[in-house]
Amino acid sequence: MGNRNPLDRRSALKVMGGASAAALGLRAFPTPAIAQGAPIKVGFMLPYTGTYAALAKNIDNAFRQYVAEKGDKLGGRAVEYVTVDDQAEPSKATDNMNKLVDREKVDVVVGTVHSGVQMAMVKIARETSKLLIIPNAGVDAATRAACAPNIFRSSFSNWQPSFPTGKVMADDGHKAAMTITWKYAAGEECVAAFKEGFGKGGGQVVGELWVPFPEVEFQSFLTQIAEKKPDAVFAFFAGGGAVKFVKDYAALGLRKSVPLYGPGFLTDGTLPAQGEAAEGLKTTLHYADDLNNPADKAFRAAYQKRYNAEPDVYSVQGYDAAALLVIGMDAAKGDINAKDAIYKAMRGAKIDSPRGPMTMSAANNPIQNIYLREVKNGKNTYVKIAAEALADPGTGCRMA
Ligand code: BEZ
Repeated sequence: MGNRNPLDRRSALKVMGGASAAALGLRAFPTPAIAQGAPIKVGFMLPYTGTYAALAKNIDNAFRQYVAEKGDKLGGRAVEYVTVDDQAEPSKATDNMNKLVDREKVDVVVGTVHSGVQMAMVKIARETSKLLIIPNAGVDAATRAACAPNIFRSSFSNWQPSFPTGKVMADDGHKAAMTITWKYAAGEECVAAFKEGFGKGGGQVVGELWVPFPEVEFQSFLTQIAEKKPDAVFAFFAGGGAVKFVKDYAALGLRKSVPLYGPGFLTDGTLPAQGEAAEGLKTTLHYADDLNNPADKAFRAAYQKRYNAEPDVYSVQGYDAAALLVIGMDAAKGDINAKDAIYKAMRGAKIDSPRGPMTMSAANNPIQNIYLREVKNGKNTYVKIAAEALADPGTGCRMA
């Protein structure tokens, strides 16, 4: 169960500061009840350990950065953080979510990364009407059939980055592709979206390989690719798994003979560890390392200063999760019970994100550009917009 970070203590001290003024007999001017209220309690449910640990850290880092940039206030109220390590483990997801909602009584849950864990969280958020902001997991249903007024996503649906990869590969002249991914919701939905885009461009999938999550023994799968010799390969892996996959792919000499593509999770946040093995890889994603818009420049500089590290797409998603929450809480002047005002403001958000313009769809999923990037000198460099202001279809979403 969650370790509290130093910000919590700072928030607590601010609250205690008011009490000691009273104890000293100082007469305070009356302030609105909400301003005097308890801190807003934000519960992070993220995979702080395991193959997605780096993703969790970067989401958490950038969320706190955004709130700090707003004076450590949400709608005028101090913030307290609680963290739960969900280990990207679906079988523990219900218990972990219940810890935050029932035991910790958080005001808002921010999580998670893994699509399978996410669905358990979505179920509880729907049952309890707890505000849930998804800072990564792309599981399509969260903003399709299982959408709800209290569930928002600051990241992507699994369909969004992978559908354009299909067109990019077809435009590059590839006709026959193989796919390889982890066998769970995110991998399945990314492959389905890719097949849709590739098929529209006249391409055909000639083989599908499925690796149990979170295994990273790729050798036997890569041998099958070498034997089949497709024109190209589409792969979804992320975090530690993506590092190992890209290195193994290059080590087997496949990189030159069978070009590798994927949604940008394959190379985002992973390049220092992948090194030369990732050079030249083309991926599609809602972020690139050199977008160079003013919001991105400011965000990257502040992140580097605060954490002495480079941000990535996961940091951007954490940053924008906080931006969404601030928009909601400011509209409600810090009253977490003013649900209509909070949700209305979040739905209408127009965020000048480091990724470029971001608005929310009717299903509470980002509408955003998807960029084609190419790895050059250890950076995911911008090539072009692969799909402009792309909205997930939101199929089956009926807001209650
Ligand atoms: C997912 O499980 O939805 C996911 C995990 C890592 C990167 C992208 C998607």
